[in-house]
This record gives sequence, C-alpha cells and structure tokens, in this order.
Amino acid sequence: MKSHPKVEDNCLWDQNMKNQFTIPWKFPKLVVSSICLISVLCLFYTVSFSNVPSSSNQELGIIKTIHVVEQDTTPPPVPSPKSKPHEKTNLHHLVFGIAASARLWDRRKNYIKLWWKPRQMRGVVWLDKAVKNGSGDHLLPPVKISSDTSEFKYKNPKGHRSAIRISRIISETLRLGFKDVRWFVMGDDDTFFLPDNLVRVLSKYDHNQFYYIGSSSESHLQNINFSYGMAYGGGGFAISYPLAKVLAKMQDRCIQRYPGLYGSDDRIHACMAELGVPLTKEPGFHQYDVYGSLLGLLAAHPVAPLVSLHHLDVVEPIFPNVNRVQALKRLKVPINLDSAAVMQQSVCYDKTRSWTVSVSWGYVVQIYRGIFSVREMEMPARTFLNWYRRADYTGFSFNTRPVSRHSCQKPFSYFLSNALYNDGKNQTASEYVQHKVSSSSDCKWKMPDPSRIERVEVYKRPDPNLWDKAPRRNCCRVLPTKKKSTMVIDVGVCGEDEFIELR
Ligand SMILES: *[C@@H]1O[C@H](CO)[C@@H](O)[C@H](O)[C@H]1NC(C)=O
Ligand SMILES: *[C@@H]1O[C@H](CO)[C@@H](O)[C@H](O)[C@H]1NC(C)=O
Ligand SMILES: *[C@@H]1O[C@H](CO)[C@@H](O)[C@H](O)[C@H]1NC(C)=O
Repeated sequence: MKSHPKVEDNCLWDQNMKNQFTIPWKFPKLVVSSICLISVLCLFYTVSFSNVPSSSNQELGIIKTIHVVEQDTTPPPVPSPKSKPHEKTNLHHLVFGIAASARLWDRRKNYIKLWWKPRQMRGVVWLDKAVKNGSGDHLLPPVKISSDTSEFKYKNPKGHRSAIRISRIISETLRLGFKDVRWFVMGDDDTFFLPDNLVRVLSKYDHNQFYYIGSSSESHLQNINFSYGMAYGGGGFAISYPLAKVLAKMQDRCIQRYPGLYGSDDRIHACMAELGVPLTKEPGFHQYDVYGSLLGLLAAHPVAPLVSLHHLDVVEPIFPNVNRVQALKRLKVPINLDSAAVMQQSVCYDKTRSWTVSVSWGYVVQIYRGIFSVREMEMPARTFLNWYRRADYTGFSFNTRPVSRHSCQKPFSYFLSNALYNDGKNQTASEYVQHKVSSSSDCKWKMPDPSRIERVEVYKRPDPNLWDKAPRRNCCRVLPTKKKSTMVIDVGVCGEDEFIELR
C-alpha cells in the first residue's frame, strides 16, 4: 500500500515510450548493452528472447517487433458497415458517451487518449462548459456541452447536481442520431476501457433486446447505500439501442421523480427499475471503489475478460516507479498482443522447489514459498483499502485474503517489462522483472529462496476466441531451463482432463 521503493527496473522502460519496444531489435546488441550498462538484467534481456524454448535457430529478426500503438499512427478508418443484422457485433456498433468536466479536462483527457481509437470508434465527450482546444485533441472523441439541467430538482445534501447532467448522457448521445448503433456505452473521464474485450462481452448479448450491462461496486457499503443491482457509472456500463430509445423517452420525467438520489448512475438505475430491466452483471467492468494498490485485484482477476479500470487518479499507478499514464501505456503492449488474455490468472507449481506460481498474464507473476491451493490463490490479496478507508474483509462484496505479514509468506512479484509476438510460432513471449522490496531477505526458512529468480519469461499462444467458450482458467506449467536467475513458464488452454494438482 505504500509507494514502491525505487528499484532498478528493466532499463528498456527508461527509454522514450514510443520506441522502447523497437530498441533491442533495431540497434546492434552492442548499442543496447551500452544503453543498458547500468543493469545486469538487460544483458540477460538482449540474449534471452533469441533462446525461445523449443525454437531452433531463432534469429533476432524473426521475432516480430511490437510497436506501442501511438494514437497518431492510427490505422485507416474501418469502412462503415452496411447494416448487416447477422454480423457479429464489432467496435463500430458501439457509441460511447463519456462524462467529463471542464475543470479536470486537461489532465483527464490523457486517460481517454490511452484507449480511444479516433477513426475506429464513435462517441462523444460531454462537458459542463467549453474548454480551450489543445494540440492533441484530434486524438480524442469530439466534445460537446451538455444541455442545461437547471430546471431539474436536485435535493441530495451530499452530492452535486452535475449528476443530472451526467445521467442524461445516454439520452443526449442517442439524440445525435448515430446510425447502425447496437450499444451505447457510458464511462467517466477516468475510466480506461479495453475496447476489444468490451466488444467480446457485448457480442454475447442480443442488442435487439433490452439490456443494461455493467457491474456493482467492490465496496459492500457502497452497494448497500446505492444498490447491488446498479451499474456503477465509473466502471462503465452498456445499454442496448432499443433500451436507450425508451429510456430517452421517459428519462426526464423519471429524473424528476428522484430528486433525493446522489449520483447519475443511481438515477439511471431508478429509471431501469421503472422499465423493469435488471442489471446484467459482467465481472470485467471495474468501478474500483478502493484506495491503495490494485495489485491484489489484478493478480486474481475473475475468469472473465477485463473490460475497464476506473478511479485511475485514486489508486496507485498499476506498475511501480512510473506515473499513472505511463503505467497504462505499458499495459497497452499486452492489450495489443492478446487482449482476451490480459490479467487472466493461472496457477502452477514449481514442485522441486515447493513454490506456488501465479501468473496474471500481461501484468504480474508472483512466486510464493510453499504450496497454496488455487482456491486460495484466486482470492485477491488485500493490497487495497475499502472506499471507507478500512482494510476490513467485511467491507468487500467478494472474498479476499489478507496480505501476509510473515516475511517468508510474502510473494515475490515480477511486473511486466516487455512482450513480443513470434510470428513463426504464433506465440507471445512476455518478460516480467522482479520488483525488489527490502524486507524479503528476512526469511529463515530452509528452502529455496525465490529472490534468486530475477526474471520470468512467459510463453503463450494468443487466443482471440478464448471467450467464445465457457469460461475456464488457463493452465500454466513451469518449464525446465538452464538460464540462470530465470523462470520459464508456458501458459495455455488446459487439456480436457488437465487440472491443477497440488502434489
Ligand atoms: C475547437 O475545435 C472544434 C472542432 O475542431 C471547433 O468546432 C471549435 O470552434 C474550436 N474551438 C475553439 C475555441 O477554437
Ligand atoms: C454510505 O453509508 C455510510 C455509512 O452509513 C455513510 O457514512 C456514507 O456517507 C454513505 N454514503 C452515501 C453517498 O450515502
Ligand atoms: C494462433 O493461434 C490461435 C489459437 O489457436 C488461433 O486462433 C489463431 O488463428 C492463430 N493465429 C495464426 C496467425 O496462426
């Protein structure tokens, strides 16, 4: 929960974000090594991916370089599909309505730039008043000013009447008359979406029916105050087109019936209740009503696609030693490689050394001394505090486990440093580097010490169709390796009879 002490992170990350992934492959090794002089890790790095297990004579050049997709190099616009009713839902069928305020716009717009694909997505940012145009604004959705809501009653003593303006965003967006829309998606200016996973989730549902899809809060008390049946606005939610149409017809009258409510999302919920449409819960939308580090939550994500992250300004950056925007930029690398797999947890064992290994693909690998059941590992460790500032386990709407205080039971965490795709093998290689914390050397247990493992390599075949099947956790296997200070892991679909056996 404290801010992370400074460690020697993989030096590739010290380079300009734009070309960091191209460095090892574009420059001769010598240059890379001298750039990396300060860190021994990097020396391992420059040779490591040329020794991809079971690939015979991999030359550096064969491994396809991954470029972080910068917003100003967006691909050409997708041709607007002619209305094909049986076509699978894609990004073009979604229209976003993003709630923002002029006061925070200069900072918050940087979060939107991280996930918005200007020519592939449609939507509008709704502001309370005009803002100055900035230089990178063509990378953002168009901005509009919400219509005046001063005529509406607002009587909640704790909240703010901007809630009324925000709750009308879906209706106002609908009235703009976008064509061929299947879903309206609502989010805040501090919501980070994974658009491909959003499409994966929504395409499971029939957009011609009435659907209200999102998720509740992590905080039990928030859900008691508001409702377990409410989609929390910051986590984002989706409303099918026909439902948005009837909502728009009745919403202004509906809002007037609930002047005492607090926010915008409870006003939507009240109208949904009047329409008789329950919340369809999808566990990948994350309101994140928590403080501190999301590590525990993101290391044990439910077996469902990760759709959104919210409260980016409240929680710590998801990677140590970088700022919030840089951290999310790093996450875009695995998102671009294998979005379906991002934050998917698998658990395996290093049996000879009696370690438990938990992989949250594209984010973190954790090694624990001793053997823990999957049942324990799939519970998020409480690295975060409740919205009401308590670490108490009764505060959450799901099971959690404590962060162990025993120095031998603290996990070793390896954060994503780089990831690549190998064309020839249709496989990603991702690298995770140990985040050193001072207290980890105090353990006196007479068993192998994971601290000697400096880096973890994870190999995985991208699986874009993962979520077309019934949800099932991936399997991981610790592979033998001769590389010093390195653990090599394979992650992939479990065999039909395969399961995770403790011993
Ligand atoms: C900002 O840009 C938008 C569209 O690009 C334009 O319509 C608007 O007039 C500009 N506003 C200012 C204050 O320059
Ligand atoms: C929710 O409930 C708690 C405890 O009763 C209270 O302190 C808090 O102010 C409530 N929040 C809202 C928004 O009603
Ligand atoms: C890679 O493997 C996945 C999963 O088996 C498959 O869906 C995909 O089509 C393959 N991609 C290529 C380029 O072969």
